[in-house]
Amino acid sequence: MKKQKKLYFGTNLKMYKTIREATDYLTRLSELTEDISRDDIHLFVIPSYTCLDAVSRKIDQSLIRLGAQNMCWEEQGQFTGEISPLMLDEMGIHFVMIGHSERRHVFGETDPQENAKVACALDHDFTALLCIGETLEEKNYGISDEVLRTQLKIGFHGVTPEQTGRIWVAYEPVWAIGVNGIPASVDYAQEKHAVIKDCLRELFGEAAEQIPVLYGGSVNPGNANDLILQKDIDGLFVGRSAWQADAFHKLITDAMNTVKNS
Ligand code: PGA
Repeated sequence: MKKQKKLYFGTNLKMYKTIREATDYLTRLSELTEDISRDDIHLFVIPSYTCLDAVSRKIDQSLIRLGAQNMCWEEQGQFTGEISPLMLDEMGIHFVMIGHSERRHVFGETDPQENAKVACALDHDFTALLCIGETLEEKNYGISDEVLRTQLKIGFHGVTPEQTGRIWVAYEPVWAIGVNGIPASVDYAQEKHAVIKDCLRELFGEAAEQIPVLYGGSVNPGNANDLILQKDIDGLFVGRSAWQADAFHKLITDAMNTVKNS
């Protein structure tokens, strides 16, 4: 069961933490994790737009990569309320999350829009983290695999095997996310990660092997170690359980030790 690969750990701060809070959080997380070799883990944090400038001045992105929670598919134009890749680039941000469940289900984003964002991110040399996941209704209809495959095929439409070094996937079942979420069982998560990896191989051939697929949705200290041991789970994308730096650090080191001792 031993995994030799680098493990991915990240958090999306959603609409939490002011500039000051995010700066304190990231400063503490940097201190706590400075002894962990980055050959073993890839660590990332995705704060709100308003924090990015301040935190990008403080944080060494070779240790903690910073990302944006969303991005427009155009460089400029009549897109009130949107942020363009040029604006992120200006702040030294080259990593963007696309299609988080809340963007899709609260703000009505569609697969073709996510695809336009992925294409734009790749055109600007960004790394794109595409989030996918089925709703409870889709799960109950027994169409989860079809939904995941559709989200991947549309989301990555036009992406070439040469670009796979800059795409990541987070599998976050909609019913598992947030305060009312029910965490997916470890077996269910592994099963869906296998479906995702099959679909990525279908799309990109061997190049798909380098695409990390992270699990997210109510990851917590009680399930993180079992999840990270699963064959097709390359990392954990954590919400609430990561928003205290000390707790996130413990979750990371526990998961790393679990893998090491497996
Ligand atoms: P959660 O959030 O861990 O609080 O469920 C996960 C997410 O939305 O990425």
